Amino acid sequence: MPNNQQLSTNNQIGIIGSGAMGAGIAQVAATAGHQVIVFDTNHAALEKAKLNLESTLKKLVEKQKLTDEKAKSISLNTLYASDLNQFKNCGLIIEAIIENIDVKQKLFSDLERIVSDDCILATNTSSLSIASIASACKKAERVIGIHFFNPAPIMPLVEIIPSILTEPSVTTKSKQLIDSWGKVTVLTKDTPGFIVNRIARTFYGESIRIYEEGMADFATIDWAMKTFGGFKMGPFELMDFIGNDINYKVTESVWTQFFFEARFKPSLTQKRLYEAKLFGRKSGRGYYNYAEGVAMPQPKQDEELGKYIFNRVICMLINEAIDSLYLNLATKEDLDLAMTKGVNYPKGLLKWADEIGLKNVYTSLDVLYELYNEERYRPSILLKMMVKDNKKFFNYE
Ligand SMILES: NC(=O)c1ccc[n+]([C@@H]2O[C@H](COP(=O)([O-])OP(=O)(O)OC[C@H]3O[C@@H](n4cnc5c(N)ncnc54)[C@H](O)[C@@H]3O)[C@@H](O)[C@H]2O)c1
Repeated sequence: MPNNQQLSTNNQIGIIGSGAMGAGIAQVAATAGHQVIVFDTNHAALEKAKLNLESTLKKLVEKQKLTDEKAKSISLNTLYASDLNQFKNCGLIIEAIIENIDVKQKLFSDLERIVSDDCILATNTSSLSIASIASACKKAERVIGIHFFNPAPIMPLVEIIPSILTEPSVTTKSKQLIDSWGKVTVLTKDTPGFIVNRIARTFYGESIRIYEEGMADFATIDWAMKTFGGFKMGPFELMDFIGNDINYKVTESVWTQFFFEARFKPSLTQKRLYEAKLFGRKSGRGYYNYAEGVAMPQPKQDEELGKYIFNRVICMLINEAIDSLYLNLATKEDLDLAMTKGVNYPKGLLKWADEIGLKNVYTSLDVLYELYNEERYRPSILLKMMVKDNKKFFNYE
């Protein structure tokens, strides 16, 4: 395929790793009309992915979300490979294997010996730098991050992350292709947590901090964020849903990679849950106890307290979104899309900032900053400048 040619729907797509993400991405690509080749070093994982796809397609046909014919074509178009040589004709390969830099680098280097010169090699990594994975390749300019959210067939957002080495045409082709699959793509920089996993840290971190200060319990904080913010799940419900093992590790990784930036500092509260294997729903207990017959704690429905909690958490989230804009992580439109389409926030954070009023956001943060004298509460310089110039992020005419 010549360099300037777009990947067409006839091109074969390779998926490596058939776990939660790989299987989901394969389903998305096959539904978009591609022939998809899936590979996993674990044969049982490959078999499981195959069985899961068949049962998912059956359910979608029963619910009349897919025709029988389309389901059959998806199934026929999904091939399962027994070795990497079967990827030699792929136009794009998306890697979704274990989150380990050495294993990923070895895979990328192995793939380069098999695929054609213009095959794009993408990684679905959540926490590793794209540049570090690309550095294992001779043609590092063909490597890009294409970051789906879980479950890939349901979540609309995909972050497109070129590294400093990525060829611009690779970025354009990747973005166009994933857009054509019906996904919402946002373009972002190769920085820890990309957009969503960076900004969302605050939702958890500030909520835990409020709890640690003894201001409110988990149920009250969850109630406040749902009632006054319209979030579908409160932060503690969500951490229990995601798993405190995964959520804690992501926080620790983002914090470490940001050279121990105070805003991303993990909490001992969640670390202890992680150490005690109180992972949340999947282990039966996390912030809440999910054992049968155990009553869920009830929130203290104190309106003044609830509004204080919501305001403090939302201002911290907004500050992170504004600082991300200031540091050119993405456009303001993409920053807002990322949070609504990637983690179901009820509104984009910059639009929300306009609604609350930038001066109000600034004042709330500045009060905390003055009170605590902690870096985590320092308002972004962009927020400060915008308040001074009486500006908004969006034009509402
Ligand atoms: N789970 C999520 O919510 C989520 C969301 C976005 C991105 N990610 C990222 O996607 C990737 C995969 O995550 P997952 O949750 O699907 O993991 P998973 O553990 O469910 O699946 C990983 C699969 O990769 C296979 N594998 C491991 N090494 C391999 C190799 N060298 N070659 C081929 N297959 C290999 C394993 O056998 C396993 O089946 C990770 O990089 C993760 O950070 C995960």
